[in-house]
Amino acid sequence: MGETLIEVKDLELHFKQKSSKLFSFHSDCLKAVDKVSFTIKKGETFGLVGESGSGKSTIGKAILRYYTPTGGEIYYQGTEIGHRKESQMLPYRKKMQSVFQDPYSSLDPSHTIREIICEPMEIHRLYTAAERKEKAEKLIEVVGLKKVDLYKYPHEFSGGQRQRISIARALSVQPEFVVCDEPISALDVSLQAQIIHLLEELQDQYGLTYLFISHQLQVVQKLCDRIGVLYLGSILETSDSAALYKKPLHPYTKMLISSILPPDPTVNALDEIVIESGVQKRTEGGCKFKNRCQSCMERCRHEPPSLKEAEPGHWVACHLYEKSHEITGS
Ligand SMILES: Nc1ncnc2c1ncn2[C@@H]1O[C@H](COP(=O)(O)OP(=O)(O)OP(=O)(O)O)[C@@H](O)[C@H]1O
Ligand SMILES: [Mg+2]
Repeated sequence: MGETLIEVKDLELHFKQKSSKLFSFHSDCLKAVDKVSFTIKKGETFGLVGESGSGKSTIGKAILRYYTPTGGEIYYQGTEIGHRKESQMLPYRKKMQSVFQDPYSSLDPSHTIREIICEPMEIHRLYTAAERKEKAEKLIEVVGLKKVDLYKYPHEFSGGQRQRISIARALSVQPEFVVCDEPISALDVSLQAQIIHLLEELQDQYGLTYLFISHQLQVVQKLCDRIGVLYLGSILETSDSAALYKKPLHPYTKMLISSILPPDPTVNALDEIVIESGVQKRTEGGCKFKNRCQSCMERCRHEPPSLKEAEPGHWVACHLYEKSHEITGS
């Protein structure tokens, strides 16, 4: 680990929305991703965690260039790909693959598993037909299924098995980077552990780099080297996963962690947690979390906090960690 593989810099993704106002011809814009920055090193797993609608999938899709960013840049090994022409994207489309949440809708029901696994290799014109068949036979076993399964159809498999097939398909073109967007959320708990284990094994075996998206902090905490906590399109806190879990700084991260942990006297930071129930609400100005934050100060209502390094490698966007600034009033 060391070399940066992915760099996302001030990424913005705005969606046009019809105005809710009657007789208005203006369209509002939804800032699904609002100046997000992070880097992922080669061989690392970076987790993005946040509630539904916080922009996790939109970030993943922007990196995969399903969307062109409204603003900001995306670098792949130092090359800007966020604004590259589609005709120049093909090599990156091979290097970057994805595994999505719903193993039921992501596999074409009219194709055999062999066709499904071979399709990406065909798109990228890799290998001869015989070699592709050989690769599919190897891959199906790598993900824990059997060669005979190649001649079956998706409906003959369970959710966990389908997710294994999706993983085999993603790996068929030997990617370097895989966006795993809630790959285990649709599975029951015992299957979740198996798929996580498989992803970890494959990472070791093939030196893969993952962006792992989940709304469950306990899932990302185990699997990820570093985590970004997303709220309404902005990263509120980012650090290595052990530090984030042991000493969460942002009131929102504390809230997320308290919701998965029984009270633990050894984890001091959690004593002060006050959970404010509620839902994400997009409001203009100030900190995005202000409406749910028990520690909200006057300043938080109008001045958005920027992401600052509170401790080495541990960044937080919260005015609580800018005490000196408060005191001097500057
Ligand atoms: N294609 C689109 N057009 C318009 N709005 C969109 C589009 N895709 C996403 N959004 C909006 O952008 C915001 C972020 O959506 P996104 O799917 O990235 O969230 P998420 O964090 O992945 O949520 P979930 O956990 O439910 O998957 C949401 O408010 C969503 O409604
Ligand atoms: Mg999503």
